[in-house]
Amino acid sequence: MNPPRHFALIPAAGVGARMGSGSPKQYVPIAGKPMLLHVLDTFAASPIITHTFVVVSAEDGHIRQMMAGAPHLAERVTIIFNGGATRHGSVLKGLRVLSDHADADDWVLVHDAARPGLTTELIERLTDTLRDDTVGGLLALPMIDTLKRGGDDRRVQATVPRSGLWAAQTPQMFRYRLLRRAMEQVDDVTDESSAIEALGLHPKLVEGSPRNFKVTLPQDVPLAELYLKGLA
Ligand code: CTP
Ligand code: MG
Repeated sequence: MNPPRHFALIPAAGVGARMGSGSPKQYVPIAGKPMLLHVLDTFAASPIITHTFVVVSAEDGHIRQMMAGAPHLAERVTIIFNGGATRHGSVLKGLRVLSDHADADDWVLVHDAARPGLTTELIERLTDTLRDDTVGGLLALPMIDTLKRGGDDRRVQATVPRSGLWAAQTPQMFRYRLLRRAMEQVDDVTDESSAIEALGLHPKLVEGSPRNFKVTLPQDVPLAELYLKGLA
């Protein structure tokens, strides 16, 4: 039997409402390069990754120009013009296209376009740790701050014990058949792990990195630039 391959799937069909920039946030330049291009270059630089699929919205007016400026990615990346109304919908549409390419036991690494701080070392840590895992898993970071639950009046209702709590990152990596089945069965989830958990399974938590944070608000851009310039 052939060893399983590793495919990357990048949902990039969001509008970036919280970023509020002129273009969808995946095209916002960070250290001179669109966020999405940082992500594609990192996956293309990883010898573990066979191919990368990107899901953009059918109306996307930026991706063609971005890819035209990155001819080195032509053989490594496929664009799918069929985003969904939610991240879950976009990933599902990508998974359906992947049925023509991936075998049941191949791995799929789903990664947000809005996490440009991913490195090939983090990809390797994830794939190495999960090599023989029967479920799969995700990059995540243990919580550091003391956690408070706030009420509608913005007053503390409780202190939530932090022990055992992790913040989920991406990539989230599962076998194609399992991930497809899990994602087809849930209505909407904010990450792939939640869909796998709904099957009663327990994805593995693999330590990620602060640099792999999700760029969400305008003030996140300078911090992402520090990481990508190697200054933080
Ligand atoms: N995403 C997607 N399809 C959607 C919504 C989101 O593919 N309908 C993608 C985004 O492009 C991003 C990732 O899912 O790469 C994580 O989503 P998020 O950070 O929430 O991005 P946006 O939804 O674009 O931002 P916002 O929620 O502020 O509008
Ligand atoms: Mg969103």
